[in-house]
Amino acid sequence: MSTVALILAAGLGKRMQSTLPKVLHPILGDPALLWVLRALPAEVEAAVVVVHHGKEQVEAALVAWAAQGLLPCPTTSVDQGEPLGTGHAVVQAAAELDRLGAGRVVILCGDVPLIQAATVQRLAQSDGVLLAMDMTDPAGYGRVVQKADGTLAAIVEHKDASEPVRAIRRVNGGAYALPWGPLRAALGRLSNGNAQGEYYLTDAVVDVAGQVPVAVELCAPAELMGMNSRRDQAQLQAHARDRINGHWMDQGVTFLDPGAALVGPRVVLGMDVTVAPGARLAGRVEIGAGTLVGQGCVLTDSRVGAKAEIRPYCVIDRSEVGPGCLLGPFAHLREGSVLEQGVHVGNFVETKKTTLHAGAKANHLSYLGDTEVGSRTNIGAGLITCNYDGFSKHRTVIGQDVFVGSDCQLVAPVTLGDGCIIGAGSTITADVPAGALALTRAALVLKEDMAERLRQKQKARKAQLG
Ligand code: UD1
Ligand code: MG
Repeated sequence: MSTVALILAAGLGKRMQSTLPKVLHPILGDPALLWVLRALPAEVEAAVVVVHHGKEQVEAALVAWAAQGLLPCPTTSVDQGEPLGTGHAVVQAAAELDRLGAGRVVILCGDVPLIQAATVQRLAQSDGVLLAMDMTDPAGYGRVVQKADGTLAAIVEHKDASEPVRAIRRVNGGAYALPWGPLRAALGRLSNGNAQGEYYLTDAVVDVAGQVPVAVELCAPAELMGMNSRRDQAQLQAHARDRINGHWMDQGVTFLDPGAALVGPRVVLGMDVTVAPGARLAGRVEIGAGTLVGQGCVLTDSRVGAKAEIRPYCVIDRSEVGPGCLLGPFAHLREGSVLEQGVHVGNFVETKKTTLHAGAKANHLSYLGDTEVGSRTNIGAGLITCNYDGFSKHRTVIGQDVFVGSDCQLVAPVTLGDGCIIGAGSTITADVPAGALALTRAALVLKEDMAERLRQKQKARKAQLG
């Protein structure tokens, strides 16, 4: 029997006040819908996402995530058309569920991002379950009525509920596991004769509960909290942060201020990593054991080896930093930067599509673009690789054990051979052979005592003017 996940994501999300569809708003860098899809366990063989508002954007995101290997199972989408309620959403997906040979359907919401993998796994293994939560303020939710044996008897939407029913604090969390055959039949009996004029999925769930027992399983409210506004988004992010940072603290990571570091769900931290306040790690990031991530550092889709020190305010994007590297403060590694073991990249150095081999150093004020820097080479302060001539990009290759003096420009394409020395202030426009000295410099003008004479002259002129 095939288990298929159905994720409802056609709603408009008006209260987000956004041009971005609600389910694409991020929590710690990953869109809400991606959180839901990534919580699907191995038992789920396929997922169907019901879309409508912002359909093009959501479908493009699904394609991109699949291409990056982020989705745990084959995922398709169905356009609901004008959304007429949660029941209507499932009706519109029925043909796709049939096509996938669904035996059991796990229904989740695309805007409920923090549902845990273990919870979805319990759903995927059961024949009839509704997730419920006990709320101090149940307003707005469907109220859950249970039979004497605890199984589901009824769900009454807030707007349809009488005062005694509104007093019930056990509410429907909107996540279910149901047998597809009975659910499909129940969908055919749905009507929209209710306070909201909608086709309620909840009516079909109760219909199924009349044929097979549907267990009511309690869940922590944080797991089932929906994102309907920017305030919700901030609250969900705070929950996610506490959960993730708590997990890593249990694994031996130090957070100097756990409330002030944003670590995404796809980040992996080694033992004895220290994360300073204001650090933000998003996407697929790996940090090796014993590494320090300094204050205000922003890392995206990057890998850092063990025992590296990333000093405050570095930005690292789609790059690799080897073990024992020393970075920043204020270093900027752009896409395709590779720093091998023990490289030093200091303040106000920007790199892009550049490899620095083991032990190379660029400590101050440089731009290294489309460049290879050999082992142990020292790049002086203020080196600029002129990689762009206004038409296309060119490569700079610098050998090993090279010494480049301060304030040089290397006009690419250009190669500096192993062990050469480039004098300070040079503009290098041709290849330099290994072992050579190269410098381009205007002749020095030196006039003895001239400074003092100039000062005297100036003084005399002022005196004359009175
Ligand atoms: C629903 C439940 C309610 C439960 C609550 C939990 C129904 C009738 N009610 O109410 O019992 O307490 O969730 O959060 O199901 N959606 C579509 N197409 C539609 C309508 C909705 O895809 O036509 C999607 C939304 O984008 C959202 C999800 O379904 O992701 C839930 O819809 P929402 O409007 O939030 O349902 P509620 O009224 O909150
Ligand atoms: Mg809702």
